[in-house]
Amino acid sequence: MDTLIRLSDLTKRYGNDGQPAVRGVQLTVGPGEAIAIMGPSGSGKSTLLNLIAGLDRPTGGTVTVAGERIDRLSETAVARFRRAKIGMIFQFFNLLDDLTVVDNVMLPAQLAGMPRKRAWSRAAELLEALRIESHRDAYPARLSGGERQRVAIARALVNRPALLLADEPTGALDSAAGEQIGHLLLDLNRSGQSLVLVTHNPGLAAKYASRAVELVDGQITRDRGDDGIGRADLAASGEHELDARP
Ligand SMILES: Nc1ncnc2c1ncn2[C@@H]1O[C@H](COP(=O)(O)OP(=O)(O)OP(=O)(O)O)[C@@H](O)[C@H]1O
Ligand SMILES: [Mg+2]
Repeated sequence: MDTLIRLSDLTKRYGNDGQPAVRGVQLTVGPGEAIAIMGPSGSGKSTLLNLIAGLDRPTGGTVTVAGERIDRLSETAVARFRRAKIGMIFQFFNLLDDLTVVDNVMLPAQLAGMPRKRAWSRAAELLEALRIESHRDAYPARLSGGERQRVAIARALVNRPALLLADEPTGALDSAAGEQIGHLLLDLNRSGQSLVLVTHNPGLAAKYASRAVELVDGQITRDRGDDGIGRADLAASGEHELDARP
């Protein structure tokens, strides 16, 4: 498979009045890529991410992830798809406060049908890799922001997702903790994890993603990789094949 995400003429309108939050977006992301979605507040970044995750339905156009047209799946099927293929991280962690760290991490694996023992081993292995195993039996409320985000990353990775989506994952962290999380994401991508990162922070995008896509008023206005080639420009000139990075 040479394409992990393909968005075609994607539009999302909330309600009937006003401009769509996402308008006519074309985007192709290859496996192993790390892309940053940037843009001002209200430009449609979270909406776009939620459409890729199947958390929201498009008004028009198509969303294909890992070969599946997720805009056509039933609610049950899309939930199953998301559990198997997508890991998500959010600004405010979204951990369950009445579960311990290890139980938070195990939960998506158990929901996917993994036996408790195996889920526990997988969770423990991730907590160790993320250097947070000493907090395994603690409750999230006792942890720092950076620690909570590492737990959230472990939880997102527990089912070995094809795609990791992160919406402002360092937005609630101080700069040191933000750097650590950024490095973790970079390490994950270097080990092959495909990543879409929404961030306000151009420094973070430049350091931790090899391609930056800019949204303004729901439309892609810029799409640049490490090599400085503007992919939106190429797409506009008809060289669509160059949309997918090697
Ligand atoms: N559930 C919703 N119902 C109605 N309108 C919404 C909803 N979610 C988002 N919007 C609107 O869609 C537009 C895009 O919002 P979105 O949250 O995607 O922006 P964003 O780029 O993520 O902004 P921020 O950087 O502040 O997080 C905004 O005008 C917002 O008000
Ligand atoms: Mg947002």
